[in-house]
Amino acid sequence: MIVLGIETSCDDTGVAILKDGQELLTNLLASQTELHSVFGGVVPELAARKHLDTLLPLLDKATKDSGISLREIDCIGVTNRPGLVPSLIVGATFAKGLSFALNKPIVPVNHLEAHAFAIFLERKVNFPFIALVVSGGHTNLFFVEDFGKMQPLGGTLDDAAGEAFDKVAKLLDLGYPGGPVIDRISKKGDPDAVDFPIAKVDGYNFSFSGLKTAVATFVKKNPNVKKEDVAASFQKAVVEALLLKTDLAVKKRSVKTVVVSGGVACNSYLRARFTEHFGSQDIEVLFPSPKLCTDNGAMVAFVASYRYQKGETADLTFDVVSRSLT
Ligand code: KG4
Ligand code: ZN
Repeated sequence: MIVLGIETSCDDTGVAILKDGQELLTNLLASQTELHSVFGGVVPELAARKHLDTLLPLLDKATKDSGISLREIDCIGVTNRPGLVPSLIVGATFAKGLSFALNKPIVPVNHLEAHAFAIFLERKVNFPFIALVVSGGHTNLFFVEDFGKMQPLGGTLDDAAGEAFDKVAKLLDLGYPGGPVIDRISKKGDPDAVDFPIAKVDGYNFSFSGLKTAVATFVKKNPNVKKEDVAASFQKAVVEALLLKTDLAVKKRSVKTVVVSGGVACNSYLRARFTEHFGSQDIEVLFPSPKLCTDNGAMVAFVASYRYQKGETADLTFDVVSRSLT
């Protein structure tokens, strides 16, 4: 079984070819970081236009690299929700065109489900587990019972964690995207230098906009405090907020495994803190490797593989959706 995975929900174009639900033949990514960096964030129309430019050459390269011809593809998986609508439309329309021309089935894929299951491309995970999907656009907790069976527990009420990283990096003049640079410079800073607040939010929800404002206010009042210290203290506040609600979910649902995925799951402080915290309670914490944490076509192909096997294909009238948890 050969499945093509297409990902264009935000600013990365991903095309992957997966064999038998496990053997990744190719996983190509075209990043648009440079295009958007001057704006300090993703500009949806520019992102969509760039996907349009990039998809066909990337598909060409994917077939050449993998030695798989378009005719050999059994199914096409494409992200159709949630994400930036202009970006999603380009990927979905491209996939529909391929599906029609090749007469192959198509599976619309939820981007959050794809992040939550990306880990399976590298190893087996026992059900049930708690998945924390934490990226530039999303911060969500799920109780995952089986393939394709995930119950949303909560999410951010305002900014996503990655968005907070990007906005704080912008106000500290560190460039875009903010996550990797804050991660890097925080290693030279003191996480206890500034006591930034952790928002008190009900249930399994999160809030990061107050933290971002607190950092902005602090920097204005204390222009001489080292950026490294501000960054490290901010990063600690984000990670503690994520840990608090993940821990609550683990305890309430009595699971033995946590999977953290999405771009922010690349964060070295988060990885260390989660591993230390849950390790001491004999709970396994798993992170996909960074290439599978950030947006990619492979995770889309993986979800499409099991949904295709269950017969969950769609006709060509399916829509794209900006907000959707399931
Ligand atoms: O999953 P992803 O590639 O795209 C979305 O679906 O949003 O995540 C991108 C986000 C950006 O906000 C970026 O700043 C953040 O992930 N990120 C990080 C790190 N690497 C990427 N945040 C914290 N630490 C990192 N090392
Ligand atoms: Zn993502």
